[in-house]
Amino acid sequence: MESMGKGSRRVEGWKTSMDVTWQFDYAAEIEKLKSLYSKSKRLQWDAERDIDWTREIDPSKPIVEEGRFGFDRIPFLRRLGKSTRETFTAQVAAHRLSQFLHGEQGALMVAAALVHAVPDYEGKLYAATQTMDEARHVEVFERYIRKLALVYPISPALKRLIDLTLRADHWVKIAIGMNMVVEGLALGAFHNMRRATSCELLREVIEYVLRDEARHVAFGNVYVQHALSQMHPDDREDIADFAYQVIKMMSDATGGPEAAGRPEPDPGFREALVRSSIDRGDFVRGLAEARLAGIRTDQAPGTIHSFRDLMMPALVRVGAVTERTRARFAEAGIHVYDDPHILESLEDRETGEVMPQGE
Ligand SMILES: [Fe+2]
Ligand SMILES: [Fe+2]
Repeated sequence: MESMGKGSRRVEGWKTSMDVTWQFDYAAEIEKLKSLYSKSKRLQWDAERDIDWTREIDPSKPIVEEGRFGFDRIPFLRRLGKSTRETFTAQVAAHRLSQFLHGEQGALMVAAALVHAVPDYEGKLYAATQTMDEARHVEVFERYIRKLALVYPISPALKRLIDLTLRADHWVKIAIGMNMVVEGLALGAFHNMRRATSCELLREVIEYVLRDEARHVAFGNVYVQHALSQMHPDDREDIADFAYQVIKMMSDATGGPEAAGRPEPDPGFREALVRSSIDRGDFVRGLAEARLAGIRTDQAPGTIHSFRDLMMPALVRVGAVTERTRARFAEAGIHVYDDPHILESLEDRETGEVMPQGE
């Protein structure tokens, strides 16, 4: 665990050879991208002006009410008693918010990479607005987490996913990794946290962020679909392989198909257990016991399932899943969910306008 102290600067990096595309036509041809750019400019907000940060977080009140994560349904956690469960809920909330913060920093860098790499004028303008959006998202989550005075490290799986996206050799892969997979994950997690939290300030922060994220997911849809429809089939297969690779990586990290196995160890989450005085071995056995009894915390009513409801339908909708990779998914036991209705309803509602669908 790391404190938010201002002492030494913790940085970590690696080298990349990034695609840089100049665009000298200045002709905006993809109408829907142009309109997303206009919308982005119109809907800019300012975290300093629009959010009242003087509100304190009441330390006597958990930011997520007991039961909203569904932990009270797990027999092992019920046996531990209410106060341990409350501490655990608070630590898990802090751990999730930390992932929001780190994920937003990743999004900031990826959006900036898109400015360099995309070949279209209107694509560059749009990506610049997303870069600004992501800067605001880092800013608001950092400000909120500073009030909690607790930040967990990035989970290894999230870091790997963002690094893989930043290392991708084609802008369409970057847009898939970011705007469809990472932001699918974020959109689901933000919605679930907005529903779960009893903190008015956090709810407001998330509502502002969600307005932008819905647009980012729509950008992935519009632009990637357009690009894939113009690509040589061999190149499309290369992109489809990348989509398979990121989904497989996520699936493995969360415990395999349908999260039926054991998730990859996360040192931050381990620390959350220590802080809650819960033995890790007991916790793992408790989860296995709940799973055997058919209890899953991600199936609470109204919970959005990022993988099933957002990511996979988004990839199918743009054509990033081909017949060939469908067979690869089947082989890996990963179901290709293709019902886009939850994804589309989020895209519409969050912007307050009907988002462009397809090309
Ligand atoms: Fe964001
Ligand atoms: Fe975003």
